[in-house]
Amino acid sequence: MTEKELEELRSRALEELSGARDLKVLEELRVRYLGKRGLLTSILKTLKDLPPELRRTIGRRANEIKAELEGLVRQRREALLRAAEDEAPGVDLTLPGRPYELGRLHPITQVLQEICAIFLRLGFSVARGPEVETDYYNFEALNIPPDHPAREMQDTFYFPEGFLLRTHTSPIQIRTMLSRKPPLRIIAPGKVYRCDSDVRHTPMFHQVEGLLVDREVSFADLKGLLTYFAREIFGADTRVRFRPSYFPFTEPSAEMDIECVICKGGGCRLCGETGWLEILGAGMVHPHVFRAVGYDTEKWRGFAFGLGVERIAMLKFGIDDIRLFYENHLRFLEQF
Ligand code: DAH
Repeated sequence: MTEKELEELRSRALEELSGARDLKVLEELRVRYLGKRGLLTSILKTLKDLPPELRRTIGRRANEIKAELEGLVRQRREALLRAAEDEAPGVDLTLPGRPYELGRLHPITQVLQEICAIFLRLGFSVARGPEVETDYYNFEALNIPPDHPAREMQDTFYFPEGFLLRTHTSPIQIRTMLSRKPPLRIIAPGKVYRCDSDVRHTPMFHQVEGLLVDREVSFADLKGLLTYFAREIFGADTRVRFRPSYFPFTEPSAEMDIECVICKGGGCRLCGETGWLEILGAGMVHPHVFRAVGYDTEKWRGFAFGLGVERIAMLKFGIDDIRLFYENHLRFLEQF
């Protein structure tokens, strides 16, 4: 490499860079001269083979040229960007990008997780079951007789060949007991389906089932557990009451009410002037159910409960139309 060759390289580079018409060509030229294997870079790399005298003069000059070319590349790039903006006025290349909206958990998911967390703290574990069930698990094993109104076509979505969409999470009790030995404590959250639709019903909704089986279990244990649960979910000063009720798979059966979240017991439209709101069904496991799963009814006792997640979410957040949960309007969802 002689000084003359170096100067020729410089003028060629200056000329080509000045003539670059767009950013792509400019970048190609930058790589050709200044890139890792570029022409100027190779010269700088071979300096060490030159005699010391030449090395100093050529080295200094080559570095000057490098700085000069880099400056020109920068200048050309800015000029080309400015020209692009002039050609497309209104496109402001300096504007910041559009921000991403942050997602969050659906209110039903939040309440579902909160419910499960309370029971997990008490030593329950989560069990699951299929949403497509058979008549046996959904009804028969739960002591629901063939002529029970719950089996009506109006309430249950049937498939051909004896399959159906589960109408409650109670079949998970049966599946769990068939596959595990007592004692056990499980909760079973999940989607359930009923042929029903108005301000208080959607064809799909969520339930959480609970089941505890052990040797010494009483109705008092059930009341204590569910009272604790209600106070965790709705606040420590929540009053509850238990009313006798009927479910084919429990005996005795009860429903638990909480004091109305709106009128605090005084009576209003939400609670139908009673001052109370039903939030779950429960009872001691019926011996017929234990027999269906082969548990010894002399040895084991248990209680079960089932609650509707949408209903609890509506009471917690003061929502008066269940359909809002599934219309997915952002203005609704963003509030949770
Ligand atoms: N499966 C009932 C329903 O869907 C709710 C229920 C009531 C579940 C009492 C239970 C129970 O486990 O003991 O309406």
